[in-house]
Amino acid sequence: MAGIYVHIPFCKKRCSYCDFHFSTTFSKYRQDLISAICLELVLRKDELKSEFIETIYFGGGTPSLLTKDELASIMSTIREHYQLADTPEITFEVNPEDAHEANLLTWKKLGINRLSIGLQSFQESDLSWMNRSHTLKQGTDAVRLSQKLGFTNLSIDLIYGLPGLSNEQWMEHLNRAMSLNVQHISSYCLTIEPKTALNDFVAKGKLIRPTEDQQSEQFELLVSTLAHAGFEQYEISNFAKDQKYAKHNSAYWNFSPYLGVGPSAHSFDGQQRRWNVANNTNYYQHVGKNQDWFEVETLTESEKWNEYFLTGLRTKWGILKKNIQKMGGMNSSELPLMDTYLKNEWILEADASFVLTEKGKLQADGIASSFFRVD
Ligand SMILES: C[S@@+](CC[C@H](N)C(=O)[O-])C[C@H]1O[C@@H](n2cnc3c(N)ncnc32)[C@H](O)[C@@H]1O
Ligand code: SF4
Repeated sequence: MAGIYVHIPFCKKRCSYCDFHFSTTFSKYRQDLISAICLELVLRKDELKSEFIETIYFGGGTPSLLTKDELASIMSTIREHYQLADTPEITFEVNPEDAHEANLLTWKKLGINRLSIGLQSFQESDLSWMNRSHTLKQGTDAVRLSQKLGFTNLSIDLIYGLPGLSNEQWMEHLNRAMSLNVQHISSYCLTIEPKTALNDFVAKGKLIRPTEDQQSEQFELLVSTLAHAGFEQYEISNFAKDQKYAKHNSAYWNFSPYLGVGPSAHSFDGQQRRWNVANNTNYYQHVGKNQDWFEVETLTESEKWNEYFLTGLRTKWGILKKNIQKMGGMNSSELPLMDTYLKNEWILEADASFVLTEKGKLQADGIASSFFRVD
């Protein structure tokens, strides 16, 4: 199993909280950039060896800004140079204002079968300080129209722990999310990243930083409310109905190989991590010369161990005993640590795995990092 990630580094506006790689001034070079993405796909066509491509994920930035021709050229390059599985999962991140009928029909025709729609909040005033380029109505209309036009695998993104968001308001957001009848919800706690407008708003007192307690309470409400509505929390921040897990993201968490193309995209082949330059102009110029557009790092045994704990413990499948054994087993300081977590009921031991309990999920990253090794 292998996947392809395509990073589309364009956005209409700069959302106040976002520090992903994107540019809002791209019209002069967008054609060069799309050509470079296609060229990178061709240059790297043998890296995944003979593996069938089971998942393709267009992330960003804003993939829904791609024109029909641009998306068609990327899709046809992939189809021509890679062996696709029979029905690969093909996900497209969509900003609500782009989800109109003509676009939705085009995406469907070009093989997109899963949409991840960025609703973020059900409160107009949040969308405003976030500097989102859509209204609340556009968000819900995007979901309804996608359903009407036959998309049966829909995910929405919601952020909690927002400045001023009360638990009652958050419950209302969750109820509205559930009324949309989507198959999947990704919900992340707001992080206030340095060098973002949000960081400035908070520093200047224009917005109040939520407390950790408020964020934990909203996380607990998220988990219990979605569980009650039949969503399975298969990863700390990801919830699915009827096992409609995001196959692409699940592969990241399982350490499966994937190829990432486009500026700032990351790749992993089981041994090495590789990341592309996070600069659009450098990217297309260097790919054009087939020269220096990425860096590579070979993971040490300790790094593999650390990543396995960090990603594995966040999932409902946990960390598998057979994989721990393959990596040499737990050492004399890790075994008592695991015992303490088991006694405190932060981790549960199953026949073949260790899994976080509900209580443990509140401390997922802290628990995982307590097992970290250094070379
Ligand atoms: C980088 S966006 C790309 C998708 C699309 N452009 C959009 O805005 O919906 C992917 C997701 O990351 C999440 N995200 C980005 N920055 C975040 C932050 N500072 N805190 C929490 N979630 C964030 C948002 O939920 C967003 O939908
Ligand atoms: S949240 Fe999405 S639309 Fe907003 S700046 Fe980030 S990538 Fe672009």
